[in-house]
Amino acid sequence: MTTPSSAQHVGTALVTGATSGLGAEFARQLASAGHNLILVARDRARLESVAESLRSAFGVHVEVLGADLTNPEQRATVEERLASTEHPVSYLVNNAGYGLAQEFEKNSVDDEERMLEILATVPMRLSHAALGGMLARGSGTILTVASIAGGAPLGMYAAAKTWPLSFSRWANAHYRHRGVTFSAVAPGFVRTEFHARLGIERSDMAPKWMWLNADFVVRSALRAAARGRGLSVPSIRYKLVWALMKVAQPLILVAVARSSRAESAKVAG
Ligand SMILES: NC(=O)c1ccc[n+]([C@@H]2O[C@H](COP(=O)([O-])OP(=O)(O)OC[C@H]3O[C@@H](n4cnc5c(N)ncnc54)[C@H](OP(=O)(O)O)[C@@H]3O)[C@@H](O)[C@H]2O)c1
Repeated sequence: MTTPSSAQHVGTALVTGATSGLGAEFARQLASAGHNLILVARDRARLESVAESLRSAFGVHVEVLGADLTNPEQRATVEERLASTEHPVSYLVNNAGYGLAQEFEKNSVDDEERMLEILATVPMRLSHAALGGMLARGSGTILTVASIAGGAPLGMYAAAKTWPLSFSRWANAHYRHRGVTFSAVAPGFVRTEFHARLGIERSDMAPKWMWLNADFVVRSALRAAARGRGLSVPSIRYKLVWALMKVAQPLILVAVARSSRAESAKVAG
């Protein structure tokens, strides 16, 4: 392994899902703050190009780890890097993830299991791999990208996203006094490749005012983690949505039941 090159090096951050969207933006903002980086995603060629642009823009050292995090052997290389004491990782961003386009019963159970894995099992395993060294060094940050959807009963994706919300809040309370901060960010709709990968037009998904930019979401998430917060919800409008969701859970279930009754009437008719 080569020696980190940055003069203002403040530690090494590992970001999953760094080829696009929020992950690429986490990598950019962490690099601009002087972190050396390890970038993880499946598309290695694209990761190399992100890495090259960060090296030349910020003079930081960037490693590339091409891995499908739902593949146990490939994921093991990432877990090993997180547990390594050589140029140890002081900042982990669990960001990689995706949704599924179809309804729960229409997807194969294997596809549903893989989604649950990337959104919950993978961040749990990577956090576990990083935590031992961070506790031994008495410092570290583990930031996991959840979703505002995780605050309400809104399907499998939302159910999987409740994991980082619950776990990060518990782990932050449990480990913070030993120097390790856990933080979950719960964004609303963000302009990334997420919806295009699902084959959904943004305009069909939500009105314009509901869309946030990745740079804003990432800046608020990094700021909240730096302040030791276990949970952050970027933007005033989504803080309001979050508060409403908490009181309106029974109404959300009624709306879900109504729309699925209307759906089944269409199917029956
Ligand atoms: N966009 C939104 O509205 C929104 C809202 C709330 C939460 N989120 C969450 O934000 C996170 C980032 O998503 P995004 O919106 O930035 O979407 P995105 O632009 O599609 O980025 C997803 C990233 O995850 C990587 N990835 C997907 N599956 C992977 C796997 N099996 N192994 C390794 N890497 C994998 C992708 O890279 P490769 O294809 O190269 O592997 C890509 O870099 C996700 O956890 C998502 O659930 C998004």
